[in-house]
Amino acid sequence: MNLRVLKDIDVKNKTVILRTDYNVPVVDSKISSTFRIEASVKTIKYLINNNAKIIILSHRGRPKGERRQEYSLGIIKDELSRLLNEEIHFFNDINESDIKKKISKLPFPSVILFENIRFYPGEKKGNSELAEKIRELGDVYINDGFSVCHRKHMSVYTLPKLFENKCAGYLLQNEVENLYKLTCEPESPYVFIVGGSKVSTKLDVLKNTIKYADTILIGGGLAFTFLKSFGFEIGKSLFESDMVKECDNIFKEAKEKDVNIILPIDVIAAKSIDDSESRIVSRGEMEKDDIGLDIGPMTAEIFKGAIMGAKTIVWNGPMGMFEKEQFAKGTIQIAKFIKEATEKNAFSVVGGGDSVAALNQLGQIDSVSFVSTGGGAMLEMLSGIELPGINVLKEES
Ligand code: 3PG
Repeated sequence: MNLRVLKDIDVKNKTVILRTDYNVPVVDSKISSTFRIEASVKTIKYLINNNAKIIILSHRGRPKGERRQEYSLGIIKDELSRLLNEEIHFFNDINESDIKKKISKLPFPSVILFENIRFYPGEKKGNSELAEKIRELGDVYINDGFSVCHRKHMSVYTLPKLFENKCAGYLLQNEVENLYKLTCEPESPYVFIVGGSKVSTKLDVLKNTIKYADTILIGGGLAFTFLKSFGFEIGKSLFESDMVKECDNIFKEAKEKDVNIILPIDVIAAKSIDDSESRIVSRGEMEKDDIGLDIGPMTAEIFKGAIMGAKTIVWNGPMGMFEKEQFAKGTIQIAKFIKEATEKNAFSVVGGGDSVAALNQLGQIDSVSFVSTGGGAMLEMLSGIELPGINVLKEES
């Protein structure tokens, strides 16, 4: 792997442009998971210890190039300051005429956080003018925002192209090294657990995983499109009619490659998502007005058997409507099984907001081998897609 990393770059006394991903969930004006912020601390501390002046570029949400207060990084500033135990200088606007002077006046080391880079239309468009303006402010570019590396945005792709001195931070390096293991002869048996709502968002990763995995366990809303493709009644459960053929193809390909795909044999069904009267239904017995909202206990047992026998485990996506306690059991059980398998020396990787939230809720974030900060980026990487934000940091770029 020819990714340039921190040890390849001189950052001492330099002004560093650091891209991070602070796209964290916020509920009632409070950050509900600081995982991504915490994960960025190691690189920032290393830079501070090297007397660097650090200019952090990051984003929250999709403000569509507009200055929208609900997506301000002000909320991140306080949390980051607390985690680093350092003052953070918050800069509201890159376009201020004296920005360069203001930055030059700050001592070494200093930590500067710019307001949400997605407030500028040029970010999403990969605009070179905006990139050149920011290029003027620093000597070195570091990307530590793995979870945004699949976006060909200005701060991820156009900007690093303008730098000779650029590399991945610790977080990004760690992500690449761990996820690389999964597509480069992972130890068998390899069990891939996939959940979430849509087949369409997991299609590429499923197709690519068939090349490496021994068993694929499918839960969550996407399982129902698969079940329907086999002719099962799924009631009013999630269903993507345009994916039926794809589900068929995945099964055919898996058969050819001797990969075992396991679908739920029972589910937790209710008549509506607010119905307190949920019940266990075997997959052949769903009624026309049932909605499947979690995997059932027999399915969980079967999934457990596969997980406990695995040497490599990857999990992305909840097994049901995890936000509601009543339908969270399947997801929580999967988290527990993975913990137990990891204790028996399996290499386990978990990614995606809800799966990570489940681990968090159980206080099990340290119980798996690696927790990815990436949702879409992790899926793309496991789909075999080269991420622009990583490619641009490689030797030949
Ligand atoms: C994420 O949360 O996965 C990243 O921050 C990317 O966000 P996006 O899907 O809005 O580009």
